Amino acid sequence: MTNYTEFYRRSIEEPDAFWAEQASLIDWKEPFEKVLDYDSPPFARWFVGGVTNLCHNAIDRHIANRADQTALIWVSTETGQEETYSFSDLHAEVQTMAAIILSLGVKKGDRVLIYMPMIPQSVFAMLACSRIGAVHSVVFGGFASSSLASRIEDAKPKLIISADAGCRAGKVIPYKPLLDEALEHVSTRPAKVLIVDRGLAAPSMCEDRDESYTSLRREFLGATVPCEWLESSSPSYTLYTSGTTGTPKAVQRETGGYAVALAASMKHIFCGSPGETFFATSDIGWVVGHSYIVYGPLMAGMGTLLYEGLPTRPDPGIWWRLVEKYKVTAMFSSPTAIRVMKQHENESLFEADLSSLRSLYLAGEPLDAPTGKWIHDALRKPIIDNYWQTESGWPILAVANGVERMNSKFGSPGLPMYGFAVRLIDNETGEQITVPNRKGILIIDGPLPPGCIQTIADDDERFVRTYWSEIHGRYVYSTFDWGVRDEDGYYFILGRADDVINVAGHRLGTREIEESISGHPNVAEVAVVGVSDSLKGQVAVAFITAKDRSAVATGDGASAQKREILKLVERDLGGIARPARVLFVPALPKTRSGKLLRRTIQAICEGREPGNVATIEDPTVLEAIAEAVTAT
Ligand code: PRX
Repeated sequence: MTNYTEFYRRSIEEPDAFWAEQASLIDWKEPFEKVLDYDSPPFARWFVGGVTNLCHNAIDRHIANRADQTALIWVSTETGQEETYSFSDLHAEVQTMAAIILSLGVKKGDRVLIYMPMIPQSVFAMLACSRIGAVHSVVFGGFASSSLASRIEDAKPKLIISADAGCRAGKVIPYKPLLDEALEHVSTRPAKVLIVDRGLAAPSMCEDRDESYTSLRREFLGATVPCEWLESSSPSYTLYTSGTTGTPKAVQRETGGYAVALAASMKHIFCGSPGETFFATSDIGWVVGHSYIVYGPLMAGMGTLLYEGLPTRPDPGIWWRLVEKYKVTAMFSSPTAIRVMKQHENESLFEADLSSLRSLYLAGEPLDAPTGKWIHDALRKPIIDNYWQTESGWPILAVANGVERMNSKFGSPGLPMYGFAVRLIDNETGEQITVPNRKGILIIDGPLPPGCIQTIADDDERFVRTYWSEIHGRYVYSTFDWGVRDEDGYYFILGRADDVINVAGHRLGTREIEESISGHPNVAEVAVVGVSDSLKGQVAVAFITAKDRSAVATGDGASAQKREILKLVERDLGGIARPARVLFVPALPKTRSGKLLRRTIQAICEGREPGNVATIEDPTVLEAIAEAVTAT
């Protein structure tokens, strides 16, 4: 076995040779001429001239050797359904879906927006888009109409694929009315909408625009649709993520580099082999779903488990029973899910036979050491915390047990992964932090390795402005995360340095929530901050000044308005964005130049010293905030 230090060193110092080797993990229709083109930094083009296809690598290339092996397992504890698709079944379903999409006028390079629950057709749709070279843009099904509308507006999709409804905790959540409402608020509408009717909530269909998947599937069953071969840098998909502004960013990824990055990560980090089963408990609307429910495991020839439901229904042992039933070898989940389980530790959680499971991977938010230790003691398997972002597409920090078996440290996601030239810099001076245990901003020297954000769709300028700075003549990418590194080189992540919050592993922009709340007629000003929470990592708390203070002067008046505000957020953005608390205050703390001091508010909420109060225009405002926080 190689030694990881040497493996990593080569990836940074000899990237061409290193990545050329990794590139042999996938199929290429035409070989690449050049490993990396970094002539116009920070834009990197990997495997220039190479021609390939994601869907081919995920499905077609397995047909010769494992057509009958399991590719997709779908379990819905919401509807009580379980389905298994072999590679050959998946091949057929994806071609049928591809034929349907083509018949609706979509061509190579067109965008297709997918707003779907966790059902097999969502996976078919993603793979079908890749197959024909269309660029999918999956919008998380938990988002409501206003979030959906802003993403449709930005993506200008040729086609939207959606379903009648999703289901959560036994409750049917109709998607089609949310989609119809969103479509009323956009300036350019797609010509076609494809609806998968699960029979949960009869959708009202708009004549000429809405098409039924059920009838088109019948028409195109058995269709043969060849893969569209794409140059390596052709976009494979865009995925929206939140940042500092209220406008979400469409992270665009390439084709060849992404395929190589995923195939390499399946080998070196996730240690997956053909015929095994991978179970990522995320959602296809998030990056983990893209990389490790859909593309990564299939590329590795593994079966992937798609789960619709809660971790606690019908009981908190459900995921572990699925591990036993489907002989899951690697599982990928979030710290919040484990903390939820820990609340049920007295309820015979781990009665299933977990002998197939080799490791549990956790990501998306900080894994606190007690939670990491608890699940480690319960499972007696390696717990692999891994840190990354929608932008990176695959882990930036982890341990690469497929290269060299290394110890994890509780509370740390580990070491820089091959290809990522990770460093810490001082937030004020931009100087590199070389001493251990000193906090800084985690940055990555350009070029980013294959598989990472290529640009923000249609906005190269925003991509450069948002993420990159030139330090000592070199482009560096900011993760916007605080971190420290210990004496052994292990990193610890200390949270975001921007206005992004992380609720139960879901990345949310506080500005988006503020914009929704501002829509309430009695809201004058609002500040939303993330406050640490023992279960969800963070929760959103909204501080509001009212236009008409008399309306919120009484307990009943304030409660009524809080209810209206929460309803508004739920309607605009969805339940996940709903603040845990809404507090009316007389004023919000600002600098003399009028900048809202969200961090000061956050410090007060978390019982920390607010720091720099000298810059605050009126420090007495802080007392009222502290009072509001403790009063309820
Ligand atoms: O703040 C970091 C946190 O989640 C952010 C990225 O979220 P998202 O784009 O949704 O991608 C999630 C991919 C797993 C990061 O900027 N984060 C992610 N993983 C960890 C983490 N924080 C601490 N530890 C982690 N393992």
